[in-house]
Formats: sequence, C-alpha cells, structure tokens
Amino acid sequence: MTGTLLDLAADLTRWLHVLAAFAWLGGGLWVRRLTLRAKPLLDQRSELEVWDTHSLSFWRTSKVTAPTAEELDGLVWSFNQIRWLVGTGVVLFALIYYRQPLAYLVDPSIAPLSARDAIEVSVLGLIGAPVLNEFVNRIPLRYKTLYMVATVAHLLGWVWLYANLFSQHGAMIQIGAMLGVVIASNVIWWLYPRMRKAYEAVLKGEQPDPIDRLLWDRRGLHAHITLAVVFLMLSSHMGSLVRANGYPFLTIATVLALSIGARWVFDATHRNGGVMPIPQRWISAAAVLMLGLGMTWMALPRTPTEPVAAHAVTYVPPSIAAPPVKHLSPTSIANSVAGGEVLLRADAIVQRRCAVCHAAQPSFPGMASPPRGIVFTPKTLPLYAGLIAAVVQSERMPPGNATDMQPDERKAVTQWATEHAR
Ligand code: HEC
Repeated sequence: MTGTLLDLAADLTRWLHVLAAFAWLGGGLWVRRLTLRAKPLLDQRSELEVWDTHSLSFWRTSKVTAPTAEELDGLVWSFNQIRWLVGTGVVLFALIYYRQPLAYLVDPSIAPLSARDAIEVSVLGLIGAPVLNEFVNRIPLRYKTLYMVATVAHLLGWVWLYANLFSQHGAMIQIGAMLGVVIASNVIWWLYPRMRKAYEAVLKGEQPDPIDRLLWDRRGLHAHITLAVVFLMLSSHMGSLVRANGYPFLTIATVLALSIGARWVFDATHRNGGVMPIPQRWISAAAVLMLGLGMTWMALPRTPTEPVAAHAVTYVPPSIAAPPVKHLSPTSIANSVAGGEVLLRADAIVQRRCAVCHAAQPSFPGMASPPRGIVFTPKTLPLYAGLIAAVVQSERMPPGNATDMQPDERKAVTQWATEHAR
C-alpha cells in the first residue's frame, strides 16, 4: 500500500517537474532568441525590440534598462518556475532513485555498492558539484583559459567518477541532476537576489545597478548545458544503445559536447535571421554522420570478456536463493522438440532472474509494483517474447544484472524469446 502511494506521489511529482521544466526552459530559449534577434533602438528609452508572431497576432517585445516604478507595477517574477523545478526534482530523485538505488544506480560489475553507499555517493555529487562550481565561477574574467580548463576538468572529473561508480544509466541520471543543480543554484543564489536589488532600486526611484559582469558571463555559459540536462534526465525512456552501451564516460561526454554544439548552431541561426548558415549546416551534417557511425559501431555484437559471475557482491533475494535451476546449454534448448518443454525452461530462468521484480507482488526490496506493469507467468511469457528478446540480449534487463543472470541463461532465454517473438 505504502509502495503504491509512493508510486503515485512519484507520478504526480514527475508531472509537476515536467511542467516546471517546460516553463523554465521555454522561457530561457525565448529570451535567448530575443537577445540575438533584437534590433537596437538607440533613439528611444527602450534600447532593443523584437517582433514575433504567435497565436495569430504580432507581438513586440522591448528591453528597457531603466524602467520607472509605475512601469514595474504588477511585475510578474519568473523565479517561481526554477523553485518548482528544483523542488520537484529533488523529491522525484529521492522517490525513484533513492528508493530503489540497487535497481537504478548500482551495477555490481562496475562497483559493488550497497544501497546506502549509492545514496551517499549520489548526495556527495549533488552537493559537491555546485560548491566546487562556485570556486570555478570566481576565477576572474581576464583568466579565460584558466576558467575554461577548470570548467572542463570539473565537468569531466565528475563524469569519470560516476562512470566508474554507477551503472551507465545511473551515471547519466546522476550527472544530469548534478548539472541541473549547478545551473539552478546559480540562478537562485546569485541572479535572483541581484534582480531583486535592481527592482528595489527602481521602486526607490534610483538607477538599478548594472548586473555583475562576472555573474552574467558565467550564467550565459551555463545555458550551454541545459540541453544536456534534459537529454540525460530523459535517458530513462531511451533505448539500450544510449543508456546501456557500455561506454558511460564517452556517452555522457558526447551528450555534453552535442549540447554545447547545438547551442552554438542555434545562436548562429538566430544571428543569421532564423536561417542556419552554410558552415553550421555542414558541421551539423558531419556530426549526425559521425554519431550514426559511432552508434552503429557500438551496436555491433561484442564477445563477452569475463563471466558475469565474478561480481564481488551480488544481491540474492530470498526467492532465488531456492534450489538453483539446472543450467541448460542453448543447444539442448534449441534441440528440444516439445515446445512446451522449451517454454518451461525459459520460464524457469525468467522466474528466477526476472520475477523478483516482474511479479504481481515483487520481492525485490523497494519494488512496490511490477515495473512497467510487466508480470511474468508461464501464461504471459509468450506475449512478451519480443520485448524479452530485446531487453535480455542487450543486457538492459535485469537492471545492473541485479539478479546475477548468467551468460548461458541469457543465451537460452534470448534464443527462446527470439523464436517466439511475434
Ligand atoms: C531489479 C528489478 C528487475 C529485474 C530483476 C528485472 N527487471 Fe525488467 N524492469 C525493471 C524496471 C525497473 C523496469 C522499468 C525500466 C524503465 O522504466 O525504464 C523494467 C522494465 C522491463 C521491460 C519493459 C521494457 C523496458 O525496456 O523498459 C521488460 C520487457 C523487462 N523489464 C524484462 C525483464 C526481464 C526479461 C528480466 C529478466 C531477465 C527482467 N526484466 C528483470 C526491473 C527489473
């Protein structure tokens, strides 16, 4: 019951989180567009203006550096969006990843972390990244190279750390959340108070202080990684080629590079009056081609290097500590004539390695309901054959090989499932 309620809480929180993300990111992209497309109007009090079309209307937006108090009457602050985004993000992260760290964050073949270790290591990054980023941000503007080197080292250092501690998907989620916290803390702790001060100055009839150059410059750069944050946080919904390809560091570094590249292309396009310039077209096409080749290379089958059984720590749920199923060679299964018998054997493996989670009442700790509503019984198994073949072969399931599925079991189940996929 508690588990079901927590699932519901996670679903509602996710909904709010996504709405807040739309609002905040949409606002950010829109303002960037305004900034780059604005035409200077030096003879008027508003310095810049942009024309737009939306909802069957023409719109004009102008930037006013020194507004009057009356003009700001009824001003709507947009900072609540980021507060909602961070608040719901923290709750969601805890409800999903800290509730089932073994299923989502840990891969015993990478690091044999306990659930508690995983949570501690994750919290360390969520607090450590913004703190370290504060030091990096304070590097004076004239030391641009030093700032760039420090930023890259700071970013890739964390990626390397989590790529070696968590499952690939766990590392992607962790880095995404850390980057999100870094961006948000800069807005909440630095930009928001500055803007408040400027607002209060206007109300008192004073000239608002110009926004601190150092803060503004750094925030502009932070915006380069917002696309990476969105991509990484959505990786739960992506296929195994993205979230379980065996190259966590390379994958996350590529996502970061693409995010920075995409921002550069957007900017160039806006500056060019909304048309992508020719060099950016060629570079984008080359990037897509290279990405395609890289993904194809990753998708090629690789020979397993060592037996998966060599894990230092393996979670053994009570239901699979029962007498082991006899290991079957894939050929003996393929040769088996009686269809019923083949199903029986695949079923025995699935019951042992999958049904701790995929059962009406899962026995895996923290798993309240069967993930994605998928329950495996001898009856339902043939229905899922196609899906099973995909997730077992790609090693997406069991997550982080939580139930220590053996390579020969994987082969046997894949073979059975492939034959029965419709
Ligand atoms: C530790 C718990 C756990 C075990 C063990 C487990 N699964 Fe899953 N399974 C999950 C979770 C969690 C999801 C939802 C993943 C998501 O939301 O992306 C899932 C999703 C799936 C899906 C839906 C498709 C997808 O890609 O999300 C299939 C199919 C599946 N599992 C099959 C299996 C099979 C087959 C096994 C055994 C070889 C297995 N699972 C073992 C937790 C488990």
